[in-house]
Amino acid sequence: MPMHYEESIQTAADRAAELLSDDLPILVLTGAGVSVESNIPPFRGEGGLWDRYDPYEYGHIDTFRVHPERSWEMLREIIEGSMRSMPNEAHRALARMEGKGWIGPVVTQNVDGLHAMAGTRDLIELHGNARRIYCMDCGRKEVLDPSTWSGFSIKCRCSSIKRPDIVFFGEMLPEDALGRAVETASKGPNILVIGTSGIVHPAASIPIIAKANGGLLVEINSQPSEFTGTLTDVFINGPATLGARALEDAIQRFFDTSS
Ligand code: OAD
Repeated sequence: MPMHYEESIQTAADRAAELLSDDLPILVLTGAGVSVESNIPPFRGEGGLWDRYDPYEYGHIDTFRVHPERSWEMLREIIEGSMRSMPNEAHRALARMEGKGWIGPVVTQNVDGLHAMAGTRDLIELHGNARRIYCMDCGRKEVLDPSTWSGFSIKCRCSSIKRPDIVFFGEMLPEDALGRAVETASKGPNILVIGTSGIVHPAASIPIIAKANGGLLVEINSQPSEFTGTLTDVFINGPATLGARALEDAIQRFFDTSS
């Protein structure tokens, strides 16, 4: 199917709705771009986290094991970002679309917890959740919120180091989350991909699997990604908030006019 970069968000969303609405629910994959309008920086590109921190140093499990305080510099920034942020219209549109039975599950690479805050219930957090903390030694768990975060210490009462329940480089993804995402994608659902560069696997394999099994791929992104020129059937080229809202409206119009 040819790409239509020049078409407006509205036109692209209408075309996507027409293609998707006959085969619901749509599997969703989100990345950092869905939270950018909640003021959480992405990883790649200008102003991205990996501009300021070498990912393989600060984000690697081997660094964390040897120099946890170094990794915690970056982790504090990630957690603080999620603590001071609220879900945006893209997170909310996805939660509403789930409520109408149009989408699900939402597979996310984000660790900020904003999809859950917005009300998404069927959520697969492939890279974990930075609000969940546990001790590396005694396993004691805590869940952070803005009130507990202000007095947070990286040292557990057992004097060992705490870590967030997220996936570091060099670690496997949680087996149950990845297994369910792959199993769902293998059924060949239509897939909506929002705000991911599509560089990091195995997350980036989910749309590839869905497509290979017969699904159509609709993408919302402010820039072309790894998928755009190759796998994407309809590219909604714009910010996640406008794109998700336009798609929600377009699916509603599709049902209103076809009933
Ligand atoms: P990236 O930072 O690689 O990509 C962010 C994507 O969001 C890019 O394609 C941007 O064009 C797009 N984007 C930016 N602002 C946007 C907006 N307002 N609306 C829509 N799209 C926007 O983030 P991810 O693809 O999520 O993994 O990164 C994948 C993984 O790489 C992360 O989960 C993290 C990182 O290393 C781990 O830490 C394990």
